Amino acid sequence: METLIHWLGPLHPAVIHFPVVCPILAFIALALDFYRPKPWLSQVAAALWVITFVTAIAALLSGHALSLQFGIVPQWSWIPPASALHGQLQEHALWGSFSLLFSIVLLVAAWKIYKDEAWPAAVNLTLSLALAVSFGVTGHEGGEMVYGFDHETASASSADAADLFDSLGNFHETLVKMNSHPWNSRTHGHRWVNTYVSKDAVEAYKNSNPLPVGSWVVKESFEDENNQPSGTPGPLYVMKKGAKNDSPRSNGWHFALKWDKPTANNAEKIKDAVKWLPGDAHLASCLKCHTHFRDEDYMGGIPEGYQNH
Ligand code: HEC
Repeated sequence: METLIHWLGPLHPAVIHFPVVCPILAFIALALDFYRPKPWLSQVAAALWVITFVTAIAALLSGHALSLQFGIVPQWSWIPPASALHGQLQEHALWGSFSLLFSIVLLVAAWKIYKDEAWPAAVNLTLSLALAVSFGVTGHEGGEMVYGFDHETASASSADAADLFDSLGNFHETLVKMNSHPWNSRTHGHRWVNTYVSKDAVEAYKNSNPLPVGSWVVKESFEDENNQPSGTPGPLYVMKKGAKNDSPRSNGWHFALKWDKPTANNAEKIKDAVKWLPGDAHLASCLKCHTHFRDEDYMGGIPEGYQNH
């Protein structure tokens, strides 16, 4: 199974072009046939619809393999959970499945052409165009997602990533706590959080200026219990500033997350202990959201009334 996943997954980017392009070519063949009837043109369209169907199946299988391989989904499911990549993956899978089912209709149309009982040209033209649009939307959704996690992969430097949490060490001692008491962070799973930064980054952080290269920013979190922070740790959210040139899209920032003892039924649907190092596809959403604070060097900051400096 693992080998199959690793073999199939990388095929996805190549295979997906066929179901997008073939219905368009079929449409063109039929349009030509409409103005200058030639029997082979509709045969070509029929063949293209068959290729669309076959490659759509290949796209579906390889797409699922790819999301398993990247660890975007924990296990095989026809429709991925809404939590994966902010629901984008689910939307992509829904459009893809719909397009695949729709391509069966075109398979029937192809069969009719072979049997010399072709459906009216207007029907075939409309169906072929609709199929092209449907696969086009699927591809667009997919492209947006890839764009999302390419950001992060681009900012990954594996040497850094390997020992990121080891080199963080005991941040309670080495970093400076920037808030007086915990607040409830809606953007980090409604958990109660404290923010720590490197000593030489304190001034910059306070003034929303660019932090020095090498800075750590760590957000520890605690689960909510009756609207109060409990003693149960949530994930540890980490940002580390690297060289700007290594990851220009995030001004050098790397994101990471670690959760040693995930609570039952957590919002992120994390089951076992996780350690997401820079480059992990799960972290695409961190950058996506923190990009809103580009002018503050990607720092969301401490809410009014909670600062202690
Ligand atoms: C939906 C938006 C959003 C997402 C997603 C998000 N953050 Fe944040 N993050 C914020 C905001 C807003 C703040 C500051 C206020 C707060 O925490 O409530 C912040 C603060 C932080 C801080 C403290 C430094 C600062 O910005 O002041 C760290 C570290 C951090 N986030 C890491 C992460 C990591 C790692 C992820 C991904 C696993 C992540 N964040 C996902 C919005 C987000």
